[in-house]
Amino acid sequence: MVNENLSVDLCGVKLSNPMIPASGTFGFGIEMADEFDLNVLGGISLKGTTREPRFGNPTPRIAECRSGMINSVGLQNPGIDVLVNEKLPALRRVYGGAIIANISGFSIEEYEECCAKAAQAPETDIIEVNVSCPNVHNGGMAFGTSASSAASVTSAVKKVCGEKPVFIKLSPNVTDIVSIAKACEDAGADGITLINTLLGMRIDIQRRTPVIANKMGGFSGQAVFPIAVRMVYQVSHACRIPIMGCGGVASAEDVIEMMMAGASAVQVGAENLRNPYASKEIVENLPLKMKDLGIKDINEIIGVIE
Ligand SMILES: Cc1cc2nc3c(=O)[nH]c(=O)nc-3n(C[C@H](O)[C@H](O)[C@H](O)COP(=O)(O)O)c2cc1C
Repeated sequence: MVNENLSVDLCGVKLSNPMIPASGTFGFGIEMADEFDLNVLGGISLKGTTREPRFGNPTPRIAECRSGMINSVGLQNPGIDVLVNEKLPALRRVYGGAIIANISGFSIEEYEECCAKAAQAPETDIIEVNVSCPNVHNGGMAFGTSASSAASVTSAVKKVCGEKPVFIKLSPNVTDIVSIAKACEDAGADGITLINTLLGMRIDIQRRTPVIANKMGGFSGQAVFPIAVRMVYQVSHACRIPIMGCGGVASAEDVIEMMMAGASAVQVGAENLRNPYASKEIVENLPLKMKDLGIKDINEIIGVIE
């Protein structure tokens, strides 16, 4: 009997399967190590890390929505030095798959410094650069909302990451995702992750106040899946570099659909918060669903939609 092949390749990094918990929804991995064997996961994208430790935004910072949630966690993290000195070695002790360091910054210099430190760490396999953060030197406009500033971050971090692949994680809060993805590819990105959260808002009608202390936050979860599939499809047709697809994924069928749209690997975000075993369950169901659909090798479906 021929077993289904689930292994995929991201810029030379081999993953045993395409399943990756998304940044911010799986901590630094180690928190989940007692719940199940993390080695069932192809990769793990770690919590977004900045130069300094951050407490994050005021609470409440989560709002439940129909088929999704809004978060305004605000990049709560212990800072890059703790990532490199403590979190990465601790995760590597229990996990042999691809470790993806997710980096955020509020200036090009911060991105450079954090990416350099993350890339030098022997445990890091891939650097994922979240360009949804506001640029404090440019009126607070998010780096990822303009092609030129996304490209500036890309070329700056590429210079300090050596041989480690750099994926730029794009914001969907733009009118033309393709031009931004292409600008990152031209600036040297090795891959693209998309999508991050969509800007959203809820109001408590009893109290007549926004549900979230910061008024607005990032909307994600099952409701955003069609938007993510559309963006992965558009970018995969415009760029040659691999894509990690993310946004609303909640089942093995969703993984297959995202890969047919053009993703080489798939991340699961908000679903992990609804069900902490979601990534594990999806990866277990994937070969069964492949068998149903007559897919022997997951690579054969990547980008099959013309
Ligand atoms: C609570 C929470 C925290 C997040 N933190 C980060 C982060 O630190 N860095 C990042 O790049 N994305 C972060 N994200 C975005 C997710 O990684 C993902 O791109 C987005 O939620 C869309 O996927 P989903 O619909 O499966 O949640 C966060 C999302 C959630 C829900």
